Amino acid sequence: MTEVRVCGLMSFSVGELVRLRRDMAAIHGYVPGLQPGDASWIKLNTNESPEASPAAVAALRDAAAASIRLYPDPISHELRDVAARRHGVQPEQVVFGNGSDDLLNLLIRVACDPGDRVVAATPSYSLYPVLAAIGGCDIREVPLGDDFALPVRQLAAARGKITFVASPNNPAGTHYGADDLRWLASRVNLLVIDEAYVEFADRDNVDLLRECDNVCVTRSFSKSFGLAGLRLGYALASPELADALLRVKDSYNVSRLAQSAGLAALGDLDWAERHWAAIRRRRDALGATLREQFGLKVHPSEANFVFVELDGYDAADVQRQLEDRRIVVRRFAGDPRIANALRISIGSAEDMQSFMAAFGDVLGHEAGAAQSCDTDPG
Ligand SMILES: Cc1ncc(COP(=O)(O)O)c(C=O)c1O
Repeated sequence: MTEVRVCGLMSFSVGELVRLRRDMAAIHGYVPGLQPGDASWIKLNTNESPEASPAAVAALRDAAAASIRLYPDPISHELRDVAARRHGVQPEQVVFGNGSDDLLNLLIRVACDPGDRVVAATPSYSLYPVLAAIGGCDIREVPLGDDFALPVRQLAAARGKITFVASPNNPAGTHYGADDLRWLASRVNLLVIDEAYVEFADRDNVDLLRECDNVCVTRSFSKSFGLAGLRLGYALASPELADALLRVKDSYNVSRLAQSAGLAALGDLDWAERHWAAIRRRRDALGATLREQFGLKVHPSEANFVFVELDGYDAADVQRQLEDRRIVVRRFAGDPRIANALRISIGSAEDMQSFMAAFGDVLGHEAGAAQSCDTDPG
């Protein structure tokens, strides 16, 4: 045990001095993907965007100079109005937060008493069980079906106070249908549809909000607007649930910089639409190349990544050899069902070309096998 000094006079062990909550040993914290400090790495492991919204970056510079000495608007009113118009809901149905992770945490805070059950499909975003543990909740993880199909009956039968479904899901990019989600919503207490990746899909599930008061949709600026480092996201919910979220959030949970950049990003949807289309094109081209030229199983993805199974190869070894070439992709070593697969985020056209050349090299293919991958500069 660590010795500490109190008022410079006496020494105690930390265990005797600070009594922590009894279940602290069960809280392991979120394990983020590797962030190599050196910009020369090609980083395809945490689904960041290769570019940030240029309007947001310009707004950040102005906001910093003009008003950084002042506290931000606690409710992010302007942003709320713009987001409400974007989705055709009332401003009172929108709550902004410090990344969508903040909203996921607040949802557990408002819906769950300690000991309540939180339900999530697995594999999915690994933060859900972490937040459930922090909330003192019991987590029930329900395995996805074949090809990551949503097990709606089992999810409903698990009877959670909150049920989390990411759609498109992480790690395979599977997007779930409105009928399945509507059926699930009609049978659970609170259904949270995590749409962190939905701008890369053909449609969203925001309409369910109009049909079901117990649905909450969360959105992120991290992937779609290239603002992961800023931390900005929001929840769309019934006015009652949104009001509860506002009452438990940190007072100033969205900085002035984040509010200014978020407004600018939502004000330049033309750039965003072009950006999303370019990512989708590169994603589909990468999937097709991995399937057709390498004979690998690639799951249909509607997100900004592809998930490829490496049957006949050792995914850990492929990952390591890519890292030797300064390319980092994500592997989920802790889950035996997906441990021999890799999740590859879609980067710039140049990043994807470098990836394909390195991947072909590692898999022992001729470099020519990778040539047809998208080379568009957008
Ligand atoms: C499904 C899902 N939801 C939410 C997030 C986090 O979003 P944010 O950066 O807005 O907190 C991630 C990040 O990887 C994710 O995969």
